[in-house]
Amino acid sequence: MYNKNFFNSHIKFTPFTLLLFLSVYFYKPANATGGTGKWQLLLNNTGVVAMHMALTHHNTVIMFDQVSSGQSRYQLRRRFNGTQCKGTHKDLQDSSCYAHSVEYDVLKNKIRPLNIKTDTWCSSGSMLSNGTLVQTGGYSNGSRVVRYFDSCGNSHCDWRQGRKLLLDERWYASNLKLPENDDRVIVLGGRNVFSYEFVPKREANEKSFHLPFLEKTYEKNEGGNNLYPMIHLSSDGNLFVFANQDSILFNYKRNKVVKKFPRIPDKGSRSYPSTGSSVILPLDHKNGFRKVEVMICGGSSSGAVSAAKKGKFLKGLKTCGRMVITGNKHKWEMENMPGARLMNDMLVLPTGHVLIINGVKNGCAGWNYATKASLQPYLYKPNKTLGKRFSTLKSTKIARMYHSSAILLPDGRVLVAGSNPNRNYTFKNVPHPTELRLQAFVPGYMGKEFNERRPRNVSIYSGGNDEGVRYGEEFGVKFMLSTNDTKKSKKNEVVFTAYAPPFNTHSMSMNQRMLVLKCKSMVVGEDGYVNSLVEAPPSANVAPAGYYMISVVNDGIPSLSQWVRFIHA
Ligand SMILES: *[C@@H]1O[C@H](CO)[C@@H](O)[C@H](O)[C@H]1NC(C)=O
Ligand SMILES: *[C@@H]1O[C@H](CO)[C@@H](O)[C@H](O)[C@H]1NC(C)=O
Ligand SMILES: *[C@@H]1O[C@H](CO)[C@@H](O)[C@H](O)[C@H]1NC(C)=O
Ligand SMILES: *[C@@H]1O[C@H](CO)[C@@H](O)[C@H](O)[C@H]1NC(C)=O
Ligand SMILES: *[C@@H]1O[C@H](CO)[C@@H](O)[C@H](O)[C@H]1NC(C)=O
Ligand SMILES: *[C@@H]1O[C@H](CO)[C@@H](O)[C@H](O)[C@H]1NC(C)=O
Ligand SMILES: *[C@@H]1O[C@H](CO)[C@@H](O)[C@H](O)[C@H]1NC(C)=O
Ligand SMILES: *[C@@H]1O[C@H](CO)[C@@H](O)[C@H](O)[C@H]1NC(C)=O
Repeated sequence: MYNKNFFNSHIKFTPFTLLLFLSVYFYKPANATGGTGKWQLLLNNTGVVAMHMALTHHNTVIMFDQVSSGQSRYQLRRRFNGTQCKGTHKDLQDSSCYAHSVEYDVLKNKIRPLNIKTDTWCSSGSMLSNGTLVQTGGYSNGSRVVRYFDSCGNSHCDWRQGRKLLLDERWYASNLKLPENDDRVIVLGGRNVFSYEFVPKREANEKSFHLPFLEKTYEKNEGGNNLYPMIHLSSDGNLFVFANQDSILFNYKRNKVVKKFPRIPDKGSRSYPSTGSSVILPLDHKNGFRKVEVMICGGSSSGAVSAAKKGKFLKGLKTCGRMVITGNKHKWEMENMPGARLMNDMLVLPTGHVLIINGVKNGCAGWNYATKASLQPYLYKPNKTLGKRFSTLKSTKIARMYHSSAILLPDGRVLVAGSNPNRNYTFKNVPHPTELRLQAFVPGYMGKEFNERRPRNVSIYSGGNDEGVRYGEEFGVKFMLSTNDTKKSKKNEVVFTAYAPPFNTHSMSMNQRMLVLKCKSMVVGEDGYVNSLVEAPPSANVAPAGYYMISVVNDGIPSLSQWVRFIHA
């Protein structure tokens, strides 16, 4: 059963290791980072479909749907303007007697209604450096609106609309926080809109800028196949912009395409409505955060959109492409997922692994345009050798198709919500009903069998500055390892990761980013606490200012994460 190497290894059979050995044997974890995870049902009714989700640094989650979907399942007794909803037939038909957005409190597992006034259908957003969510565009009366949510962690905050409108209509556009002192975001693309603009504008007469790349990648007969362009900030300050099958490195300051990357292989598209998903793999201090690598997985086959309109659902793409976007050599390295997948979400876990969750096997995005939900998440370990990176995790029983979402929580779980492959809320007589149940996927690393290894009681000391930690500065991370584990742990087994939480919608995780930070020193105190000094990222290009989740990862097992704010000098 065990090979000789196992017994020849450095383990000495003290009573403790024997105990550890027995308990490991007893729990039979699949490998160093646990089994295949499990699912929790958190709420039966979130009231509104979580078409969009974003985590705030107060550990609440903003969820919202479109306003034009009519009656949600969160009926209000009073409208937000104070007048009563009497339950008359007229009131029951009145969209203002229903919530279209909620705030979910992770700790309390409760929701409260929020007031969205204009239509947020298929919109975009970013977290600003002060933790305020800026949300842009939508449909119809909301297509040019900019909204803000100043997270407060209590029930006193709500949506507010900015006074200034976007210049172009931004329906299915993308939003990215820029690495600038004045907290601007770029809003790029949208249905029939081949431009980008900044929010806020620096000058009153600042225009929107034409981007021919969006025209070139537009596939008219396939619903565009280039909506919700994937945007990632490279650590050289340029933007990687991907749409359909093509990508560019873009200098947004000069409105200049710096580089055209090779086309991603495989017969199909990766962008809405052929929705695949993308991440940038963790940036690492060991190479000065200089190497930036993008990974794109899934999407729809060629012709899937026109086929879906005729009721034919083509099998999705099985491939992922990985490409280093920095340096001078660019080539897509292709590999296969365990199955075909589209409308998948891709999240970077505190371990640096990528979770692929939600979505379907056939069809494309849109109402009633897909079949065969993908119920099994995939785990991808970027550091393993090709062919050994993917594994299949515990299945859910709940289909998460069009208009579903997923985000990472500070405790290491993944919140999964939404799915509405229908116009309006429809629960009966359809193949795929509207889904209002809220779940958490609990990754294997959270298993009890790892409690011994898991760093706990993590706290952060940001030195002299109450506001946050400046670029390049050191900050303290204090934590506890089980006394049993302290002896075993070597410095290089503990990794500190920083995570920028995304704005998630339509398989896009806008602004998602993970950094592996440099640890300058680590000392075990007499009280058993480990005091470590960790270096903040060097610049906003590496990590745009704002709130990040810090996790201490011991030998592959992450702690609960704590918030830190990176700020400009
Ligand atoms: C450490 O190991 C001992 C057995 O040697 C066990 O009794 C104790 O609970 C362990 N400590 C922790 C914090 O898990
Ligand atoms: C959801 O509803 C089911 C069936 O009514 C019930 O058994 C379950 O306890 C509910 N779960 C939650 C989290 O409310
Ligand atoms: C915007 O449109 C939605 C849906 O059509 C409607 O419910 C809402 O009242 C409108 N908002 C305003 C401010 O007119
Ligand atoms: C969806 O709801 C809207 C707003 O209540 C309504 O105008 C529309 O007719 C509904 N559509 C369907 C297909 O039920
Ligand atoms: C509140 O909203 C309802 C429905 O839109 C409207 O009929 C009513 O006049 C409003 N009341 C006030 C006080 O604004
Ligand atoms: C955060 O910054 C935005 C943009 O400058 C501003 O509108 C908002 O009021 C600020 N939020 C807080 C809580 O100060
Ligand atoms: C992946 O491996 C590289 C090289 O061994 C290492 O520098 C990096 O920290 C690893 N990444 C993660 C997220 O563990
Ligand atoms: C440390 O964390 C544990 C839970 O992991 C908690 O029970 C304990 O009270 C914490 N200790 C301190 C000193 O905060």
